[in-house]
Amino acid sequence: MSEETPNANVRVLTDADAVARAVAARFVEIACEAVGARGRFSVALSGGTTPRRVYELLSGEEFSARVEWAKVHVFFGDERCVPPDDAESNYRMARESLLSRVPIPTQNVHRMIGEGDAVANARLYEDELRAFFRTDESPIEELPRFDLALLGMGDDGHTASLFPHSPALEERQAWVVANRIEKFNAFRLTLTARAINHAAHVLFIVTGAGKAERLREVLEGGRDPLRLPSQLIKPTSGTLDWYVDRAASSKLSDGRQSAGHE
Ligand code: 6PG
Repeated sequence: MSEETPNANVRVLTDADAVARAVAARFVEIACEAVGARGRFSVALSGGTTPRRVYELLSGEEFSARVEWAKVHVFFGDERCVPPDDAESNYRMARESLLSRVPIPTQNVHRMIGEGDAVANARLYEDELRAFFRTDESPIEELPRFDLALLGMGDDGHTASLFPHSPALEERQAWVVANRIEKFNAFRLTLTARAINHAAHVLFIVTGAGKAERLREVLEGGRDPLRLPSQLIKPTSGTLDWYVDRAASSKLSDGRQSAGHE
């Protein structure tokens, strides 16, 4: 375990489908605990392609009936600056694979507005988060406290839309920003590392050999968060789990590959 991620727990599963099943099971577990303890479950979904299988499983008969969807509030970790029906939209992916298939109330789906003024939309989303999370008991400095934040990792080490050397990496106050991504010549909306790190549970989903070297760098290399933004994710008091398949874990230290293997 490098000094970078002292509390990171790495679970190695046989393949991408086994990873998706394990993540779906963990999602249900955390949802049941949150609803039982606080009457609601707040989750920030990841975009990209990897989580699609997780969402499909969650909407299927094996898992769906175990979640009280009326008490689930879905947020997004990041969003491309496109309309909700665009092929690039993370909201569209989640709607197709999960949200349109489970009985979650419309008002419980908190979409990041991708279309229009990115800076204004980031501020709107932060206002929505503040309205949702602020309660009499919650100290503002510990918010937003998602019950679960699902994250992916790009092969460049980014997570959410926290890309290497992008302005959002230095953000210390805001919970949501419009991040300028040079390589796309575009803005993306993203939760900041600060907002993600207040979550009760943070869960990375990483599969495929193409991410093996970067995963090794992030988990076992030196601290270099501007180049490897996934290293910024270190929950202040919550748990941090990496659900990876054998292919993605192939360059991790032997101890790690065998210890968590399932
Ligand atoms: C996005 C995601 C992003 C994603 C990684 C991995 O909007 O694309 O939030 O952070 O998780 O890029 O993407 P894949 O799952 O497609 O490899």
